[in-house]
Amino acid sequence: MSSKSTILVFGGSGRTGRHFVEIALKKGHKVRALVRDPAKLAIRNPNLDLRQGSIVDGANLDELLEGAESVVCMLGDAKMQSKENVNTAFVKKLIPAMRRQDVKKFLYQAGGATKPYKENLPFGTWLLKNTLVRMSGLLGQHRDNEAVIEYLVEEAPDIDWVVHRAGIFSDGPSKGTLVRSKDRVSMASFVDTATYNYNALNDPAAVHTYDMSVYKR
Ligand SMILES: NC(=O)c1ccc[n+]([C@@H]2O[C@H](COP(=O)([O-])OP(=O)(O)OC[C@H]3O[C@@H](n4cnc5c(N)ncnc54)[C@H](OP(=O)(O)O)[C@@H]3O)[C@@H](O)[C@H]2O)c1
Repeated sequence: MSSKSTILVFGGSGRTGRHFVEIALKKGHKVRALVRDPAKLAIRNPNLDLRQGSIVDGANLDELLEGAESVVCMLGDAKMQSKENVNTAFVKKLIPAMRRQDVKKFLYQAGGATKPYKENLPFGTWLLKNTLVRMSGLLGQHRDNEAVIEYLVEEAPDIDWVVHRAGIFSDGPSKGTLVRSKDRVSMASFVDTATYNYNALNDPAAVHTYDMSVYKR
């Protein structure tokens, strides 16, 4: 990925997303971000192109994608996702638009309690999901993420997608470097999660994976 390229970001005003936007701008990228409320993202930079809108209100995806090299989704709305798979419905529109605009790279952030494709979660994670995650009202978010993974695996082999099944976050400073892991997950900070996302987008070995991330020892 060239440092001058444009990255289209969804969820840029979120806890991971705002770090991602900052990192990408520091690396010299142009960032275009669709946000519901531009006032929520304090960053102002000549290379940041903020567009107001929502993933559920029929944003013009071809226009947003024009000239972009990659797309990153760090989206979440637990209330909406408890009722329907809004992210999946969105990704199902986004991927065909990426094909039309010849944009190949896509990173989607899911969670450690999101099931990998056609696999079960390890018992400890399953237990956590059916207790804490359930009580926090986040089951719908994981169901939606699982449907996104299924769609990407089954219907988007031509796109260089990566799903990051990220750990449970805490805000705060960096705690180290996260690396890809099939079976372990760290409780990472948002800034480290965003850095991992940026690196994964540039890692050919990460293409078509839906791994978790763990701090390098
Ligand atoms: N936080 C965690 O502990 C955690 C742990 C593991 C995995 N994850 C996964 O990572 C994803 C991102 O996490 P996060 O904590 O960074 O998310 P977050 O802080 O909740 O931010 C979510 C982002 O999505 C945006 N968004 C939601 N609905 C939208 C819509 N209809 N149109 C446009 N933008 C919309 C939000 O915009 P607004 O600013 O307008 O609300 C916000 O920018 C989660 O959804 C989850 O799947 C999170």
